[in-house]
Amino acid sequence: MASSSRLAGLVTLALALACTLPAASRAQLQLGFYNTSCPNAETLVRQAVASAFASNPGIAAGLIRLHFHDCFVNGCDASVLLFSPNGTAERDSPPNFPSLRGFEVVDAAKAAIERSCPRTVSCADILAFAARDSVNLTGNVLYQVPAGRRDGNVSNFADAFTLPGPNLTAAELVGNFSLKNMTAEEMVVLSGSHTIGRSHCASFLFKNRERLANGTISPAYQALLAALCPPTTGQLTLVTTEIDVSTPTVLDNNYYKLLQLNLGLHFSDDQLVRDATLVPFVNAFAANETLWKERFVAAMIKMGNIEVLTGNRGEIRLNCSAVNPRSSSMSSSSDGLIETIFPVADGEVSAS
Ligand code: HEM
Repeated sequence: MASSSRLAGLVTLALALACTLPAASRAQLQLGFYNTSCPNAETLVRQAVASAFASNPGIAAGLIRLHFHDCFVNGCDASVLLFSPNGTAERDSPPNFPSLRGFEVVDAAKAAIERSCPRTVSCADILAFAARDSVNLTGNVLYQVPAGRRDGNVSNFADAFTLPGPNLTAAELVGNFSLKNMTAEEMVVLSGSHTIGRSHCASFLFKNRERLANGTISPAYQALLAALCPPTTGQLTLVTTEIDVSTPTVLDNNYYKLLQLNLGLHFSDDQLVRDATLVPFVNAFAANETLWKERFVAAMIKMGNIEVLTGNRGEIRLNCSAVNPRSSSMSSSSDGLIETIFPVADGEVSAS
């Protein structure tokens, strides 16, 4: 549990970071962006997250991952929330389906916000707030999130394959994050999210048979996982296990301690202790939870700035799972950068 002075320190750090990010990555996001236009926006998100968390604590992990998967594909623009009647959206793609969860929490928050201040708060900001609230509920860490993101109108099945997968090597993980201007250390820091949440058998079982052969997974742990998962596991197998076997509902630094004991669940998790440049980060975070939480908050805020749409770009979606009907668009893309290729509700594909 972080002390109140530590929490105050984290908040100060977050504020300082928001002010010192380079202009290009800051992209005009602001703390208190809705203070005047929708003062209760963050409270309403928090209430929706807290209510969902009360009946299903696992939803916090789902919301943190939802924000990550949003930001790493076309930037933090809520593209991951768009629904396609044909199953051709980002969220239908194997890196996201069937594992991604928390959509209904975002919808509940959006519905409450629309009742209070219509057409004002973007779905991308709701996602960023919901992820922050999830960190607070599971890790007792408070921080402020700069806002002002606007929602995109492109969602492609194929784009989700650029997300880092659980079979990537250390070098591939570092390379994947560097494409988003995130450092190797930030990759290790954010992987610490795997201290909460679950994973499906298809995400770890096959690769872990290799790890058993080369001695990079505890044999007892692999035996437990093999007994849990159906032998002919496929992508659609719904059997899951907790990623952190020790404290699966608490956002703490146990993830790093487990890695040191060959108890990382995914091949990608284990890679963090197989690479000489990454293992010092793992050791530092395993030894010092406060250090990890400080770096985690900073990295979450930085991730939330990836390729954001601000100003007149994008739109404020009325419904987080659909682009606005043309007649009700708050503002269309003025620079022509955004092409609407997402199939709209009746199945047609519209192009702006
Ligand atoms: C470094 C590269 C990463 C890889 C390869 C990776 C891979 C995965 C995989 C395979 C799962 C389990 C999916 C399933 O089968 O259900 C998962 C779950 C999760 N990931 Fe990651 N991840 C990475 C980074 C991140 C980052 C940066 C975050 C957050 C900032 C994150 C947050 C989570 C959370 C919270 C879960 C649990 C989700 C739930 O319980 O619904 N991951 N990740």
